[in-house]
Amino acid sequence: MTEAALSRPDSQDGRERVYDPLDPVVKHEPYPYYAKLRRDDPVTWLPSLQAFGVARYDDVDALLKNSKLYSSSMFWPALLGEYDPVPEVPPMISMDPPGHVHLRKLANKAFVPSKIKILVDRTYEVANQLIDDIIARHGTEGEFDWATDFCALYPVTVIAQVLGVPTERRAEFKIWVDNILAAANRAAYGPERLAEIQDSSNKIRAFFEELYDERAANLQDDLISDFIQAEIDGETMSRIEVIQMSILLLIGGVETTTNLLGTTLVELKRHPDVYVSNGVQKGPPIGVEEGSPFWI
Ligand code: HEM
Repeated sequence: MTEAALSRPDSQDGRERVYDPLDPVVKHEPYPYYAKLRRDDPVTWLPSLQAFGVARYDDVDALLKNSKLYSSSMFWPALLGEYDPVPEVPPMISMDPPGHVHLRKLANKAFVPSKIKILVDRTYEVANQLIDDIIARHGTEGEFDWATDFCALYPVTVIAQVLGVPTERRAEFKIWVDNILAAANRAAYGPERLAEIQDSSNKIRAFFEELYDERAANLQDDLISDFIQAEIDGETMSRIEVIQMSILLLIGGVETTTNLLGTTLVELKRHPDVYVSNGVQKGPPIGVEEGSPFWI
């Protein structure tokens, strides 16, 4: 079967292909499926995720704004199940108001404008360092693997740095995050893979417990220290809340951004007109920022 036929939901041997977000064929080219869902199945049960998929903007908008009817509380337990490294407290992404608002305000204390400026500068430093490393290895005319040499390393390096984790540990971080996120597909795995996921869950927790204790005893200029100090009307985050927040940032930031960067380059190659008109050859950030809403 041709790639084009595989990518079209209506045309697989004349039979309709069912939308399953975990199906590699769907992942390869999801947009025709989204269009069909919006047209024919705006709300559909997805067995592989044990969740409903909601396709239309207005429906998504309405349910995101109605936390009483559509709670976020089951999101994290459904995603990670027994592999959640911090089962004692939910991460804020899996909380509803008012608890969510409270925690979010505390976390925001770490993201005041002066801190953001430092964070932004670090993202440039990390990108430049990675590109310098790539040039050192392959020269300015050589070939390199954008997906592994840049997309996979950049987000994890940035987040590790801002959290205050030594860069040497980023390879471990990436493995832990990939393994923990694989828990979303836990029903499909055998004991060996599940043991790896459990191991990563244990290791990430142990790592952040240790880091928390180090920083609590000796505050530094990093996010964990900022979370520890964040305070509103005498209320602060507990030790376990800071650990959960740090792990959420790591998990939330690594995979999403890696995918975004990879997909953006693929799309820029598919649409060379955008590549040139955005001036990407002169300044990549424009293309990347514009890629964000469109290509993830
Ligand atoms: C392309 C990149 C990204 C995409 C597509 C993405 C997507 C999302 C989505 C869909 C949500 C849920 C919003 C909701 O429940 O209303 C979310 C929340 C969140 N994301 Fe991201 N994200 C990205 C990058 C990041 C990065 C880089 C970080 C951290 C370093 C991060 C950390 C978080 C956190 C902490 C939340 C929870 C916020 C809250 O509950 O208030 N994300 N993200």
